[in-house]
Formats: sequence, structure tokens, C-alpha cells
Amino acid sequence: VSETQRRLLLERIRDVPDHPKPGVVFKDITPLLADPAALAVVTDILAALCRRHGATKVAGLEARGFILAAPAAVRAGIGFIPVRKAGKLPGATLAQSYELEYGTAEIELHAEDLGPSDRVLVIDDVLATGGTAEASLRLIRRTGADVAGLAVLMELAFLAGRRRLDPALEAAPLEVL
Ligand code: PRP
Repeated sequence: VSETQRRLLLERIRDVPDHPKPGVVFKDITPLLADPAALAVVTDILAALCRRHGATKVAGLEARGFILAAPAAVRAGIGFIPVRKAGKLPGATLAQSYELEYGTAEIELHAEDLGPSDRVLVIDDVLATGGTAEASLRLIRRTGADVAGLAVLMELAFLAGRRRLDPALEAAPLEVL
């Protein structure tokens, strides 16, 4: 990523204070998505990561991960897999639950979508506490697939998601755009 490209992306991510609740600064990527130049840069970078890490599939994490991952999959010429919140997928699923600050959450994928011949690049917008990403890597590996890497636009370093995520990464690379 060139410095100019990185600056363009950063300029198109908007901080929204006190959303969705007081004290939280929400990272809004809709300005980036609405700008064709910025959207093309992100898509190109993610597709290049697919190629560099030998991915055979791209997995997007609901919901903003879907928006970034699907065009990257098209550009890289590989398929897209949605990792969804529990209860959304109609077919036979594998599920993985994970701890939130208060309570637990669960994500799922269609079991038939992945297998031992796959290498998956996982894409999301933000790495926050790392819980979603960690669960997605474990879920993907349970299909027999390899994790080619995890790519996120942003990392909220103060939440230490990287530390939580690290064991689940195993040797897979974490790419923060
Ligand atoms: C956000 C974000 C990541 C996740 C990161 O999604 O898009 O997927 O949280 O948080 P974590 O690192 O603490 O797990 P959200 O649950 O808000 O879903 P949405 O994209 O459907 O709004």
C-alpha cells in the first residue's frame, strides 16, 4: 500500500462518537464504500493479499466484512464464503461460539462450502476485541481448510484484540491495511 493510498483510505473512515452507545467511537466505513477510488484501492489490496497468501476462497465476516470480501473475491478470481451470525444460514452449518464482554455470541458457516483443499483469507472491517476473528479462524479450521490469513482495514489497538487472536492465528499472517 502506498502512503497516498493509505491516506485516502484513512480519510474515508469516519469516527462517530457515542455510537452505538455512549463512550464508543464507531468506525464508519460508508464514506470509503461510497468513494469509487477508495473502494477500488481496498479491493485491489485485498485481492493482492489473496494472491500473495495463496487463498482459494475468501471468507467475509457479517456484515461489513461481506461488503469488502465479495469484490476482493471477484477480483482475485476465487469464491466467497459468508461467515454469518447464528440462525441465518439455511443449510447444514458448523457453529462456533465465543465470549463477549457480557455473554456469548455464535457464528456459523455452511459446512459444505469449505474443505481440506481450501486456503481461506478471512476479511473484516475492524479488529476490536478479536473475538469474532478468533472464532472465525477456529470455525474455518474445523472444516479441514487452512487459514491463509486475516485481513482487516483497522485495528483498535487499545482493545488488545491481537493478543486474544494470536493463538488462533497459529502461523497465519494478520494484515492490517
Ligand atoms: C463488528 C465488526 C467486526 C466485529 C469486531 O461487527 O464489523 O465484525 O464487530 O469486534 P470484535 O473484534 O470485538 O469481535 P458487528 O458485530 O458490529 O456486526 P455488523 O458488521 O453486522 O454491524
